[in-house]
Amino acid sequence: FQMDELPSMEGAIAALSSMRIREEKEQRVFHYSVDPEEAARCQCKCCPPREKQEPADYCCASLFSLPLLKKGVLLRDGLLSKLEGINGHCCITKHPLITDYILTDAVALASAEVFAMVTGETITDENKSLRYGAYRLFIAKMMGTLGKGVRVRLPACFVDAVRQLWPSQTYTGFSCAEVVDA
Ligand SMILES: *[C@@H]1O[C@H](CO)[C@@H](O)[C@H](O)[C@H]1NC(C)=O
Ligand SMILES: [Zn+2]
Ligand SMILES: [Zn+2]
Repeated sequence: FQMDELPSMEGAIAALSSMRIREEKEQRVFHYSVDPEEAARCQCKCCPPREKQEPADYCCASLFSLPLLKKGVLLRDGLLSKLEGINGHCCITKHPLITDYILTDAVALASAEVFAMVTGETITDENKSLRYGAYRLFIAKMMGTLGKGVRVRLPACFVDAVRQLWPSQTYTGFSCAEVVDA
């Protein structure tokens, strides 16, 4: 061990990529046997084109047809119990609980303001706060709690609906509740 040894660029890149893999694993909803392309295949007609998605993005309909890990089961069972009559809608984002409650300015703003109060943060980017307000409320409503700092990847159609309502000029990173997306 040498004190003056600087981490190599390769080392830094490898560390970043292993962090990325760990995050990806932590957010995973589908069983390891599931091909990500199969999970991404849109059957709800509301997902953005595959080329605009991230590799691990998935369609809401896949939650009801493919084998899941624990977090996926929690999300699926939450959706089934909260979205009454979901079979009558092609996509979860068409259900009134989503369209008339979670995806409204007032409700997303309320969620954002409570979060800002609890964390002591000030809202600077309003659209971003509204997006995260909606993501957090979705998780609170459908899954109860995930625990502090715990993340889950949300369906591509829901994230897209949120981004269409409260757009940003740029998006980077993961489409999930706790990670910066703009
Ligand atoms: C915020 O969202 C509104 C639509 O809800 C949009 O008109 C506006 O351009 C967005 N602001 C930014 C900074 O992207
Ligand atoms: Zn879809
Ligand atoms: Zn959908």
